[in-house]
Amino acid sequence: MESKKIMSKRNTTEGTPASERVRFGEPRRYLVDIDSISTNQLFADCVVVGAGLAGLRAALEAADQRHVIVVCKGTLEDSNTWKAQGGIASVLNADDTFEAHVADTLKTGCGLCDERIVRQVVEQGPELIKQLRQWGTPFDLVDGRIDATLEGGHSHARVIHAHGDETGRAIAETLIAQVKNAPNIRVLEGFFTIDLLTDEDNRCLGIIGQDAQHGLQILWAAKTILASGGVGQLYRETTNPPVATADGVAMAYRAGAVLRDMEMVQFHPTTLYIAGASRALITETLRGEGAFLLDTAGHRFMGEYDEAGELAPRDVVSRAILAQMRKTESTHVFLDVRHLDKGYFAKRFPLISDLCESFDIDVSHDLIPVRPSAHYMVGGVATDAGARTSIENLYACGEVASTGLHGANRLGSNSLLEGLVFGTIAGRAVVETTTADAASMKHPLIKYQIPHSDRSRLDAADVRNSLRALMWRNVGITRKAQPLAEAQEIIRFWHRYVMDKIFDSPVGWECQNMLTASLVIAHAAELRKESRGVHYRMDFPDADEVHFKNHIEMVKSN
Ligand code: FUM
Repeated sequence: MESKKIMSKRNTTEGTPASERVRFGEPRRYLVDIDSISTNQLFADCVVVGAGLAGLRAALEAADQRHVIVVCKGTLEDSNTWKAQGGIASVLNADDTFEAHVADTLKTGCGLCDERIVRQVVEQGPELIKQLRQWGTPFDLVDGRIDATLEGGHSHARVIHAHGDETGRAIAETLIAQVKNAPNIRVLEGFFTIDLLTDEDNRCLGIIGQDAQHGLQILWAAKTILASGGVGQLYRETTNPPVATADGVAMAYRAGAVLRDMEMVQFHPTTLYIAGASRALITETLRGEGAFLLDTAGHRFMGEYDEAGELAPRDVVSRAILAQMRKTESTHVFLDVRHLDKGYFAKRFPLISDLCESFDIDVSHDLIPVRPSAHYMVGGVATDAGARTSIENLYACGEVASTGLHGANRLGSNSLLEGLVFGTIAGRAVVETTTADAASMKHPLIKYQIPHSDRSRLDAADVRNSLRALMWRNVGITRKAQPLAEAQEIIRFWHRYVMDKIFDSPVGWECQNMLTASLVIAHAAELRKESRGVHYRMDFPDADEVHFKNHIEMVKSN
């Protein structure tokens, strides 16, 4: 997998940043041999890959008039949406304005947001949230009105929540119930999507995947919506569920889609840190409601890093925590909520209360040990205002997409909002651009054979663990030329061996996807020789408005 020269500098629509497009090699078009004649086949107007908020919302919209198949590699409950705690940001209170939400999003995005997209998302949010309420999402109320709280970077309290800190689950349950009642939607759980199928004109034809019962299957579809979520598992420390293995960006890249801003990985400042236990998100709304950050010497340090203190944007808080951990030679810092009312805390943050209790942390007496971890892929598959990717008939929405909303940094709780808005847009586009008999379309023969290799067997699980440690160490919160170069060299070495293999189960395909995505991220991080938003280069600590106020796009070289 060799990197190639920068191809072009394109001017985009006025008011949106320009893009540098980079061609980057990838040896494989598909991860498995394909013979479409002898493979099981299903047909749909639309296939949706992924069952988080964006995918389910897209499916519901498309299923209004079309036949939809939703596939997910785990169950409908295995998504980043399900785990989202803090909430969903939207302008619902009289003292808040669209302008203020737009301004906060643009400021946090550090010059790389697309203002048109920001407006579109902010303005369409309230109506779609109203619909979620009508469908039954139990947003928390105060005096009959939806309760809203603060998060870092928001100038108004506009983060709404449900069941306290179980917002994602509440929204997911609402959408799952709707999907189960929708006659036009078929759900295939435990279905691992291996690749997007394309024809010689690079139009998307559907997907190939595998489930335990039927083996390899082709799902032909007039339109494909990629909503496969994030990449958190590329890092040793992450808030993301095990399914977040970058499959979507990797398969889109193999298919020739343009990826954008892949260096922009957001780290969440506060993940519960208990050695040996899996990392768990401790929501930022805790700080929005008064929690302090203390170092291991008991010193409240955030004021020394940013005048907004604990409510500074996530990248600032994550780096401050890292610096303070170094200063105090500690593995973590603490969140202090001892001054908050214990009864209120248990009611407002039931998930965190239970989590802390399970580790014998009494939040009214004890400090909560935390440290940052990988949380959200800000970049992704490039899309336009209509959720269209660079591949015809392929749409993307949710975390896998780079819509232009987040720019170089995502404002907390804007992601559920983005998934809701762009899921709806993608689903509607399917209805508007597909004819009613799309499922009976003729499909081309697809034959693809991977050359046989005699190279020795590899332990994919071992490569995966080593990769996650490497990404955390060399391509993490703070970056520098030499570790980035070293990471690429090591990943290229693994990539050569792992891409040489033909796997027949998800553990191998995930490893291949993780290597591809990691290499793209590390390469983009090397190319951006400045610091902007979530991307911090220790060797280039300032933003470079002359050379880098633009997107870095990656596309596979032929
Ligand atoms: O801290 C949180 O609850 C995270 C919210 C988000 O990622 O938007």
